[in-house]
Amino acid sequence: MTQPSFSAPKGRLRSFGRIKARTLKPRQQGLLNSLLPHLALEAAEPVEPARLFPKAEAVVLEIGFGGGEHLAAQAGAHPRWGFIGVEPFMNGMGSLLSHIENENLANVRLHLGDARDVVGRLPDGCIDRIYILFPDPWPKTRHHKRRLIQRDFTASLARIVKPLGEVRFATDWAHYAAWTLEMFEAEKRFFWAAEEAADWRCPWPGHVTTRYEAKGLGDCRPIWLRFVRSGA
Ligand SMILES: C[S@@+](CC[C@H](N)C(=O)[O-])C[C@H]1O[C@@H](n2cnc3c(N)ncnc32)[C@H](O)[C@@H]1O
Repeated sequence: MTQPSFSAPKGRLRSFGRIKARTLKPRQQGLLNSLLPHLALEAAEPVEPARLFPKAEAVVLEIGFGGGEHLAAQAGAHPRWGFIGVEPFMNGMGSLLSHIENENLANVRLHLGDARDVVGRLPDGCIDRIYILFPDPWPKTRHHKRRLIQRDFTASLARIVKPLGEVRFATDWAHYAAWTLEMFEAEKRFFWAAEEAADWRCPWPGHVTTRYEAKGLGDCRPIWLRFVRSGA
């Protein structure tokens, strides 16, 4: 497989770093060549969850799934739900493909690239839940504009999430948590579902620790934020 280039639309900054870190393991390279084409969303077409998962009870989008351990665990735990995973990092995609094959997961579709392209191709009100777990923190002030969470992105998420659906966000960078709260507060179609400190200090039930979370590289303990799409 040739390395993708992900040329972003003019004016859009890359929110991710490397798209390939090291030589891919032969098995993962093989899965990128053989399995990914069967699971990949069609390029440049509208993404239609109702067609991808006609019988699914819910549709979940995970943005920046990294090594895919969380997505694979969720897909295994909820076989009647459909999962769309988006990740530009080839080694991460290779890792998730290994999980999919090992665990025989039949409810996952994938995009190797930028989630903003997928979000823009999804219809209104089609997603029940979005996970954005430990996104690249871009801690330097001059890099904040590279953060995935931006005002226009929260507006796009509000468009695609069903009424009473939700975005689940986690970070272990205090400034990114405050930044995200500010961005979602400005998007009036979401409300922050928190009533007590435990709501942002503890992961939601059924959470599976991610690889990046386990590294504990941030400047605070993980902060768990749920933003629910208003019913209107
Ligand atoms: C810090 S890692 C965390 C990975 C994983 N969620 C975890 O917790 O282990 C952030 C991930 O988001 C991906 N990412 C960054 N920008 C993205 C974008 N625009 N669309 C999809 N994924 C993106 C990166 O490639 C990277 O794998």
